[in-house]
Amino acid sequence: MNIEPFRIKAVEPIRFTTRAERERALEAAGYNVFGLRAEDVIIDLLTDSGTGAMSAAQWGALMQGDESYAGSRSFERFREVVHDLTGYKHIIPTHQGRAAERILFHSTLQPGDLVLNNIHFDTTRANIEAEGAEARDLVIPEGRLPSLVHPFKGNMHLDGLESVLRSEGDRVRMVMVTVTNNSGGGQPVSLENLRAVRDICRRHGKPFFLDACRFAENAWFIRQREEGQQQRTPKEIAQEMFSLADGCIMSAKKDGLANIGGFLALNDDSVAQKCRNLLILTEGFPTYGGLAGYDLEAIARGLEEVVDESYLRYRIGQIQYLADKLMNDGIPIVQPPGGHAVYLDAAQLLPHIPSLEYPGVALVNALYLEGGVRSTEIGSVMFGVSPDGVERPAGMELVRLAIPRRLYTQTHLDYVAYVVAAVAGQRHGFHGYRIVSAPPILRHFTARFEPLMPVAVM
Ligand code: F0G
Repeated sequence: MNIEPFRIKAVEPIRFTTRAERERALEAAGYNVFGLRAEDVIIDLLTDSGTGAMSAAQWGALMQGDESYAGSRSFERFREVVHDLTGYKHIIPTHQGRAAERILFHSTLQPGDLVLNNIHFDTTRANIEAEGAEARDLVIPEGRLPSLVHPFKGNMHLDGLESVLRSEGDRVRMVMVTVTNNSGGGQPVSLENLRAVRDICRRHGKPFFLDACRFAENAWFIRQREEGQQQRTPKEIAQEMFSLADGCIMSAKKDGLANIGGFLALNDDSVAQKCRNLLILTEGFPTYGGLAGYDLEAIARGLEEVVDESYLRYRIGQIQYLADKLMNDGIPIVQPPGGHAVYLDAAQLLPHIPSLEYPGVALVNALYLEGGVRSTEIGSVMFGVSPDGVERPAGMELVRLAIPRRLYTQTHLDYVAYVVAAVAGQRHGFHGYRIVSAPPILRHFTARFEPLMPVAVM
């Protein structure tokens, strides 16, 4: 049995809403769940980022925070923990992952450059495009087929990588791999694949970076699924993952088990120097990088806790538990379930809604109306607009149920499964949406929608 490996020391009440209240709230939010007040949400699966519960040891560590502007003791502790894990020479704290992205890309990219990744996360892509560079995804073809089972669906397509480096190598500024591959279903990348990417990058003289937000979950999958890894600790596996790359960007809001924070870590002295200068300009001095000393303490402790075996067994087991319940109800999901979320296949569940009428949004909104469950669309709203401004369907229409770390109990997940099943039972009655207004980039956060037919009261 997968029991929670913790007891609960502090609780936060959940406010229950009625369907009528939720209908009003959703309409006021322009049918975009990002616009809802969190108070109007019963179970919040919008993201696993910064939304988890810290441990008693992390809360205790907050009091150890040294708030000195320069040379703080908390930075030393943070640096030691990150260095022990990653082995990288330069460790630069940032207020979250996208700040590390912006600083790295602004310091290294020129207009016209190309960055390759298995699948870029939305802010990663946007930060590359903001430099006038191109972000291209090269995940293995299996990684784009939601129902196909493969142990490492996040793997980079090695022939594709080799061929782009041969034909457009001059433009390629760096190669990245996102572990786990969030936009492709939270799917892991094998050590074998990371080693091969490292070899290809070396041969072509290209830097290789990990987008390491969920490194510990990736390490757990490697231990479970990759030959010869069963006897190693998750930390040893993670250390090897980092050792294969030249650096990483990290959002500590995921596998840092913290509510805020991130870092950029790398070996190259001159790039690190440029990044530190930019950090001082926009984030803060290099020994705090936009974080409080106590945040650095919480992250340091979180990075130690996240590689604990009983934590990871429970964490991945919790996602599997929800996935199993949904599969038993015949709900189409990305197979196998990922490390931080279950992804519903909205295209398969709502085949009568065309991509550009946003089946993902229809499903997200139905889950909210039915049971106050907040999720996210990862489909044509998030990825439908290319830099040329033309709207095209995204490859997949997914809805992500992201599970915050250590926050919800098994009963909460039972409730989520119940709500999804209830929505699936009504799916023929759902209609699509049209966009009323949207900004040119990262439109999913603030777009406003209108239902193409009145949202039926069931
Ligand atoms: N890279 C990946 C793979 C991510 O999932 C995220 C954030 C980031 C970078 C950026 O980190 O939020 O700290 O600035 N993902 C969150 C999510 C927001 O909901 O998946 P950040």
